[in-house]
Amino acid sequence: MAKHDLDSNYLDPDYEPVVNHSGNSAFQDVLAARMQRRTLMKGGVGAALASIMGFGIAGCGSDSDSDDRSNGGNGSAGPGEGSATELGFAAIPVSSANKVVVPAGYSTKAFLPWGTPITGSYPAFRADASNSGADQEQQVGMHHDGLHFFPIDFKTGGNSSDEGLLVMNHEYINQAALHPDGPTYNANGMRPADEVRKEVAAHGVSVVHIKKDSTGDWDIVFGSPFNRRVTGNTEMDIRGPLRGYQKLSTRFSKNGTQTRGTLNNCSMGPTPWGTYLAAEENWHGYFANSSQTKPREQTRHGVGGASRYDWELAEGGDDQYVRFNITPTAQSAEDDYRNEANTYGYMVEIDPFTPESKPQKRTALGRFGHEGVIFAPVEEGKPVVCYSGDDSRFEYIYKFVSSRPYYAATASGYLLDEGTLYVARYNEDGSGDWLPLSLDDAGFAASVEAAQGSLVGNVQFDGFENQADVLLNTRLAADIAGATPMDRPEWGAVDPNTGEVYFTLTNNSRRTEEQVNAANPRAENRSGHIIRWREGGDDFAATEFQWDIFVFAGEQGTETVVDGDVAVSLTDDNIFNSPDGLWFDYNGRLWIQTDGSDAPPYQNNMMLAANPETRDIRRFFVGPQGCEVTGVVTTPDVKTMFVNIQHPARDWPFGNEGDHPRDATVIVVRDDKGVIGA
Ligand code: FEO
Ligand code: CA
Ligand code: CA
Ligand code: CA
Repeated sequence: MAKHDLDSNYLDPDYEPVVNHSGNSAFQDVLAARMQRRTLMKGGVGAALASIMGFGIAGCGSDSDSDDRSNGGNGSAGPGEGSATELGFAAIPVSSANKVVVPAGYSTKAFLPWGTPITGSYPAFRADASNSGADQEQQVGMHHDGLHFFPIDFKTGGNSSDEGLLVMNHEYINQAALHPDGPTYNANGMRPADEVRKEVAAHGVSVVHIKKDSTGDWDIVFGSPFNRRVTGNTEMDIRGPLRGYQKLSTRFSKNGTQTRGTLNNCSMGPTPWGTYLAAEENWHGYFANSSQTKPREQTRHGVGGASRYDWELAEGGDDQYVRFNITPTAQSAEDDYRNEANTYGYMVEIDPFTPESKPQKRTALGRFGHEGVIFAPVEEGKPVVCYSGDDSRFEYIYKFVSSRPYYAATASGYLLDEGTLYVARYNEDGSGDWLPLSLDDAGFAASVEAAQGSLVGNVQFDGFENQADVLLNTRLAADIAGATPMDRPEWGAVDPNTGEVYFTLTNNSRRTEEQVNAANPRAENRSGHIIRWREGGDDFAATEFQWDIFVFAGEQGTETVVDGDVAVSLTDDNIFNSPDGLWFDYNGRLWIQTDGSDAPPYQNNMMLAANPETRDIRRFFVGPQGCEVTGVVTTPDVKTMFVNIQHPARDWPFGNEGDHPRDATVIVVRDDKGVIGA
């Protein structure tokens, strides 16, 4: 069962509605020829059909140019012991136990569960969930997701593996677990304001200063000025091309330069300059609009009539809750919240080392269902490049290339405010193109001109006012550019040894035979796959690339075939479905996390390790019942690993029997204090 099935708020099968009706499928006809020519389709024992485009990426792993690439963007300088990417542990079997399972020789410990006090008066967690909204604002939020470890001495060029800032997202909430008796409504259909306050506060981001003690255990540094909660109500600046655009004007910020809160923060990305970008993924569900007709910047993003949690119905009519009703009610946008949803859908920069800093919404990276972001390694004098997937069925993968060059001495968030946003087209011959979404680009401008007056998907297209309007409607712009609709792009990762970029495509059960394309070749793709590419000339700013598929997920016998040879055939050691979290550790081992079915043969969700050179994949970690395993990072020495457990079905391992299961971070160490995975 995926999380959407576990949370009553996600029972609607259209929670992630198909909102791309543009039908971009220019390559389906030539696909057949390519499939016949170069691809073997093989079914295994009960396996879904698996195939791969039959070319290898030349020199992958063998002509590594890692020597001249910094390991920027990960908060770490060096690799741990050794540089080999071989896996040194024995795979563990699938598990349906209500506990975390890891290989022999490893130990785990749960840390920072939902409700852990980290700031202010450090209000103790109450197991009956009776903490107030004010308490929750000082406690770790719910539904842990992407996370990163920043060495405490990062700003002075250090690389501590003993002390740092652990920063994590809290994607959404389980209302039933958050309150003693679940969400309530009073006689007039309104919600108690403190319940809403608590729900808003359980979202967002936690910054926790942590330190290893003399016995090697990790503790919170109580009273540290770095400990911080950013919530769904924290004031933020709008930066980049959408700053000041009239379609972001609200009663709160008439000039469209500010907003409050970040929501549905799924994955994240550390920047090369030591800040944290939190993604806003399924933000559309937080807003209510009872208007008959809704603007394209809402409909193309799935904003519907009712909101998921009814925050706009908080008793008392406080402005911070009323804003979630985006139905136009006043004469002008400056006097209501019709544009509030236009201040969501971004990557949000948080500087964990400057606790008083205001988070910054970086609009140049586009507005869509950002799963996360991954930065390419930076080089002095070259642009900053990062990638972000839009996790919804038939949505796209994007790349941002900064206008201004990176220099370590002066780098900061301003680099993310000017640049070009590209969207990926995966051609059937294994090449790919980055299509610029810029009115300054003659090709894109011509496509926009050609689309004028026609129906793009469900949207009657009447042009873009300016580049801000393009970015506000990033999905629509990508439709027009001719991007390749993907099977729900989740996390990305960049191989520190080869520079290849990997993305998980978690699943897409709604893709029909007519809708398959070379990069998404399975109809009714229930188990997902991992795609990867190498940028042209090994230049991350290139506009062409070469792609292939790293592995198809599925049951035992699912084969990934490369140039006629079976590169991977999944076995009991590595069957998996619905890859989601993805991360290269500092040695170059790839960690794959799942958010799929709990049903046999896969059982509970898990994390696997992969050797990217050999495609040796082994199950390393299985989570407790009902959870999604999402979010992984290590200390720079790769000897402490942090893995997040989201929406466990039952309480674990806190002994708190009842209806209030706690998300938590799991610390994984090797008993011999060695490098994890080695
Ligand atoms: Fe929040 Fe796409 O998972
Ligand atoms: Ca999702
Ligand atoms: Ca995810
Ligand atoms: Ca997912």
